[in-house]
Amino acid sequence: MNQVYKFHNAKLLTGECIDFIVENGKITDLLPVTTSIHNAKFDLADFVKNRNPSTDIINIDCKAELILPAAIDVHVHSREPGFSHKEDWMTLSNAAFKGGVVAVCDMPNTLPPTMSRADIEEKAHIAQKSKLAFKLYLGVGKANIGSLKNILSDPSLPLCGLKVYYGQSTGELMYDDLETLAKALPENMRGVLTFHSEDQCRIDHNEKELLTGYNSKDDSLPYELHSKIRSSDSAWQSTKVILEWAKKWQQPVHIAHISTPAEMELIEEARQGGLHVTAEVAPHHLIFSTDDYEHLGPLLKMNPPVRSPEEVHELRNYFAKGLIDYFATDHAPHTLVEKNQPYKLCPSGVPSIEYFWPLLLLLADQTGLSPVQTLQMGAAKAAIPFGFSSLGKLEVGYDASFVWISRQTQTIRNKEVVSKCRWSPYDGMELPYTVCATWHKGQLVYNNKLND
Ligand code: DOR
Ligand code: ZN
Repeated sequence: MNQVYKFHNAKLLTGECIDFIVENGKITDLLPVTTSIHNAKFDLADFVKNRNPSTDIINIDCKAELILPAAIDVHVHSREPGFSHKEDWMTLSNAAFKGGVVAVCDMPNTLPPTMSRADIEEKAHIAQKSKLAFKLYLGVGKANIGSLKNILSDPSLPLCGLKVYYGQSTGELMYDDLETLAKALPENMRGVLTFHSEDQCRIDHNEKELLTGYNSKDDSLPYELHSKIRSSDSAWQSTKVILEWAKKWQQPVHIAHISTPAEMELIEEARQGGLHVTAEVAPHHLIFSTDDYEHLGPLLKMNPPVRSPEEVHELRNYFAKGLIDYFATDHAPHTLVEKNQPYKLCPSGVPSIEYFWPLLLLLADQTGLSPVQTLQMGAAKAAIPFGFSSLGKLEVGYDASFVWISRQTQTIRNKEVVSKCRWSPYDGMELPYTVCATWHKGQLVYNNKLND
């Protein structure tokens, strides 16, 4: 039987209330609240209890709570293949759906790193187990620089673009020969050219200076050294070089996880000069600062690292003005055992995809980011460049992939984390929003009422 779902009295982020209809996984109608389906028969709880209703029209009363398009997270680390003790595609999808995310772009630093056609095909085969929409990043190194033209112009591969680790991060991937890269890219590259922007020379120099005399396993090294070693300067220097290169070659570029206002200044300048440059920001760079090492220690170690409270304040101003294109979690789970090691041994990275929409809405409230910009950053803007053209908007013809969010305060608790790593840097934090349910292509893929 062809089920038709009528969602009644859904409140959009912009304030108006709508009714909308879902059929065959698509949004087929959307109209201002009418009386036509006013007497909605079911609310969400009833919907769950009546999974096989005999009626072919199911009415769902949204009770004037928020309905948003499901999010697209353009920066995640699935960890599979190779590190499935940290996360796998099934646990990632559970975490994503809980955060209101239905589409992800996966980074190449898995094992093997995603460098060849076979690596892409193997990862795609694994990822298809989950219901998540996904696109994969190809990584670049000396070994595959000669194959980029071929791989990046093949429309049959589920790629969102190329990831360049201009500085080394978690894993071995690194490539900093930008002249060779320029010549190795296809004419009209499909997807996004994304940089991990930290200057390795500066990092190495800082490390040598700051760690001289220490044993690498020394457990007295303070974790806050991380922000000094991978300094704001090293991010600035790297972003400067990348933008100069992009200008020379007239190459659109995307800068991953912007952590400093100084880089945003460079980006704004480049944009004014006519360069197509986009940027993403991760929640941890807007919420935490170097002050937080005191209580979080190893759990706050990530690349690029957290910055001074003043820099966070200024970065929030760029965020508030809608000058950063995407909100992306850089979900990078490691186990607690791995994290709770001395500074040098503790791997960089924090998980957070399962709080995507609540964190973005909180940051929007705190900074005054407009509703339109919030929807752009969380969902709409990424759809075309990253290859999810049927997602990102609550509009007729789009996939019925949306999120029901209530203004119910939740306290983040490690024991409730569904990511395989089972911890969150936000443990104990209160969020004034909770994802009640997530639908993807017309299917209910997450419902926190099911756990009641
Ligand atoms: O903190 C980070 N963790 N930054 C990265 O660039 C990689 C990531 C990871 O894979 O753990
Ligand atoms: Zn990352």
